[in-house]
Amino acid sequence: MEARSGECNNIILIGFMGTGKTTVGKLLAQRIGYRFVDTDQVIEQEVGLSIPEIFLKYGEQHFRQLEKQVIRKVLTRTGIVLATGGGAVMDPANFSFLMENGCVIALDASENTLWERLKAAKDRPMLFSDNPREKMKSLLEMRRPVYYKAHFVVPVDGKSPQEVVDDIIAIIEPQGGDEHTE
Ligand code: S3P
Repeated sequence: MEARSGECNNIILIGFMGTGKTTVGKLLAQRIGYRFVDTDQVIEQEVGLSIPEIFLKYGEQHFRQLEKQVIRKVLTRTGIVLATGGGAVMDPANFSFLMENGCVIALDASENTLWERLKAAKDRPMLFSDNPREKMKSLLEMRRPVYYKAHFVVPVDGKSPQEVVDDIIAIIEPQGGDEHTE
């Protein structure tokens, strides 16, 4: 596929669990004619287990190795919208690789919004803890500075997935949306 969206041969979504990377990524890919790939889904398919099962059976370290391999394999192509897992960019080599292989867009939500979205989730092993809210808060504090180093940061609080997609398209294809001249 010939990639074209602005200067972005690939679009890579990063951000904390619950920011909507998968939902937004699918819609975005449809809108711009790119192929959607979710690293967690690829890992689940390859291993034949769900993410919580992989954590339980093999541990986080093993999951991180798989995540690293999948990121590299997927981005040998262009024309991809890639949704990454929330922890992927905490590996500095992954972060650099992503920044060199596409436009990296961080979806950013407030702590309250994230908790509302994540409190009932049973599929986020990083939040399996006696105090998941505290765990979420400390992970968020550790990770936010890395997310904020993306090429672009898009706030998602109070927006529908479609509105987030509109914001992303305005960033990557500025000639098609409102032109920002400042
Ligand atoms: C993780 C986030 C998850 C998944 C795994 C680890 C993390 O992806 O990769 O459970 O460390 O934040 P989502 O961000 O899509 O929930």
